Amino acid sequence: MPRHFTHLKDFTIGELDGLVDAASSLKKSAPSSFPLAGRSLAFCFMNPSLRTQVSFSVATASLGGHPVTLSLGSGGTWGMESVEGVVMDGSAAEHLKEAVPVLGRMCQGLGLRSFPAGKSWAEDKTEPALAAFLKYSTVPVINMESAGGHPCQALADLMTIRERMRPKGKNFLLSWAPHVKPLPMAVANSAVEMAAMAGMNVTIARPEGYDLDPEVMARVSRNCAANGATVRVTDEVPQAFDGQHVVYGKSWGSLANYGEPPSSDPVFRRKWTISAEKMRRTSGALFMHCLPVRRNLVVDDAVLDGPWSVVVDQAENRLHTAKAVLLHLLASPAKSSTASARRHRK
Ligand code: CP
Repeated sequence: MPRHFTHLKDFTIGELDGLVDAASSLKKSAPSSFPLAGRSLAFCFMNPSLRTQVSFSVATASLGGHPVTLSLGSGGTWGMESVEGVVMDGSAAEHLKEAVPVLGRMCQGLGLRSFPAGKSWAEDKTEPALAAFLKYSTVPVINMESAGGHPCQALADLMTIRERMRPKGKNFLLSWAPHVKPLPMAVANSAVEMAAMAGMNVTIARPEGYDLDPEVMARVSRNCAANGATVRVTDEVPQAFDGQHVVYGKSWGSLANYGEPPSSDPVFRRKWTISAEKMRRTSGALFMHCLPVRRNLVVDDAVLDGPWSVVVDQAENRLHTAKAVLLHLLASPAKSSTASARRHRK
């Protein structure tokens, strides 16, 4: 079975720390050889991206590999079906049941970005496209953001925190923020899962109706308890900012009103926009955000342009952690994916 990098819950904090250690070494100096020479990776995007697309492409090339970036279903590549047994008389011209093994015959690793459809959380939670990649792939698969998680972002976030503090015992606030769209919960889920695994005291500040998925919260509670850390969910802002060491700003859609955008009421928005006044209540906290971010809606200019913000460093660390993930999955003696497919048939 190929190794994959798809969900934080598949890893221990020791393994994530090991990947961050590798990323930190790669940040200091490039490897003396090209460990991915002769390997090609296909990075498949069903949704837009700047950081993820560029970081994996540059990481692959700088390790000597060849990146292939595909925008599935948006002009350049066929629209893909992920559900088995359907009559394919809609917009999808190709099934992942063929496309994924075809890519695996040509490339030694695959990445997928696939956002939730936004109609039913019960359906989106099954992550049908990622599940199909995992089912049909004979080569490693990287989750470049699915409905439930963004582990590559969380790894870069852990690296960014570790560059500035020992996370264990520190206070981590995930603060919900206003937006014009009901955004995926992936980054929020992975941020609190990472913080809990790292032994931080986790506070989630969110309006009523914006709780995270109960399975995510159960993992957060278990990890906090195992680390002797606390977990708290509140709608009391700005008080939630008091004493925090890390403030992670993020908007996400409501599970209670799935697919509906948040209120545009100016008073509600102002209550939840992250401001300098709120950041001044913290213990000199870092301000983190995965980007892209809508200025003066999610967070004020004064925060992004102020002393708290590490958002560009976070983005840079996507590159270094992408290299660490690629080496973790692929830096072993090259195996022909065709040979691997032959073994599967035997
Ligand atoms: N943070 C992040 O994943 O950025 P992109 O959506 O631009 O890839």
